[in-house]
Amino acid sequence: MSESIKGPRGVRDILPDESWKWAYVLGRAAETAGRFNYSEVRLPIFEHTELFSRGVGDTTDIVEKEMYTFTDKGDRSITLRPEMTAGMMRSYVEHSLGVPGGNPAKLWGAGPMFRYERPQKGRYRQFWQLDYEEIGSESPLVDAEVIMTAIELFRTLGMRNLEVVINSVGCPKCRPVYREKLIGYLQGRCDELCDTCKSRLQRNPLRVLDCKEDREIVAGAPDIFDSLCDECAEHFNTVTAALTRLGVKYTLDKTLVRGLDYYTKTAFEVKSGDLGAQSAVCGGGRYDNLAEAIGGPHVPGVGFAAGLDRVILVMGEQGCSFGAQPALDAYVVCPDDSARLNAVELLYALRRAGLKADMDYAGRGMKGQMKTAVASGAKAACILGGDEIARGVVAVRDLSAAAQEEVPLADVPVRVASLAGKR
Ligand code: HAM
Repeated sequence: MSESIKGPRGVRDILPDESWKWAYVLGRAAETAGRFNYSEVRLPIFEHTELFSRGVGDTTDIVEKEMYTFTDKGDRSITLRPEMTAGMMRSYVEHSLGVPGGNPAKLWGAGPMFRYERPQKGRYRQFWQLDYEEIGSESPLVDAEVIMTAIELFRTLGMRNLEVVINSVGCPKCRPVYREKLIGYLQGRCDELCDTCKSRLQRNPLRVLDCKEDREIVAGAPDIFDSLCDECAEHFNTVTAALTRLGVKYTLDKTLVRGLDYYTKTAFEVKSGDLGAQSAVCGGGRYDNLAEAIGGPHVPGVGFAAGLDRVILVMGEQGCSFGAQPALDAYVVCPDDSARLNAVELLYALRRAGLKADMDYAGRGMKGQMKTAVASGAKAACILGGDEIARGVVAVRDLSAAAQEEVPLADVPVRVASLAGKR
């Protein structure tokens, strides 16, 4: 016999003992979005490859090495989305989602992303993002609002010990000046750079700042804040002033450049010490030139994406609550074969009344069924045999109190609901 097929490397099955936690976090993500007045957009999972090569940037790791790209049967180059920002901007432009009067369109979405990365704890080839974007405003207060959305989302989930790291990566006016200064400095120390950074030196020198290996060289690099134009410096000051006013503790990290090319001005991440090497639970920033890069008009934007897999990992390590795992309200127990159709009827009456209910389909005896009822965590066992049918009642046992009473058949849903604390 051939070996049974396993899932591909780097992808995970989110099994029942975990999936309810995902539903909880997704619910909180939607609730946070609602409070901040974001509306949901459900984007397609695949897009034209060009959207990412032009939007995220040709020289990024994502586009160079990590995309799942294929040619479809119509001979088009298609890519499974590695992120959502480019798609969100495409959708904004394609459907004219702009808000009259100059306020940003606030859009959010969630779903799986795909990157061909080396799998490790907190890093997968299919992973979920919670993505929040504010498109159409230059205001630095919108940058602050985006950062506050992330902080509020994590606060709502009970996450602790997070570090907010922020930087400015300048704009097309001032970044080229910095880029030249940086190249000049790095060329002087080229021999000492790691191989990856040697190749980054001309193509994408700012990424060298992010290198984990060349820390000592990066420490001596020119300071980006000495090159920022007045507009970028003022923008940054307003963002940080707003954060300070809102009581947010942040760290300025001038080496934070992020792995996507569309960023201008603000770049930020929120990090957790509970994740090991993949410490970022979210990352984001401003992207004022993305719309033009993908062939649209000039539309500024700012946003972030949180990694749902990582959020759940951190919450697990920190013992955060995921709400209660939904347990059964009732387990229908049927000791007599002849009563099975009546038991089925009762089961559906309970479900129609909005209760979570199940029953035995394996033909087990009374004892076995009661064992299953207890193991399932059900609040009540509803026992219905020939004797009960003859008298038009059901024996309802409160499984937490081990107390039993006879309830008229028609009243069982109401009785179970009250035992389950649902009425
Ligand atoms: P990113 O930093 O590439 O940014 O990803 C955002 C978050 O997604 C990361 O902080 C991390 O939590 C999670 N993540 C990334 N890759 C993986 C992976 N392989 N496995 C598990 N989790 C991962 C973006 O994608 C930008 N689109 C964010 C953004 C939105 N910027 C502006 N708006």
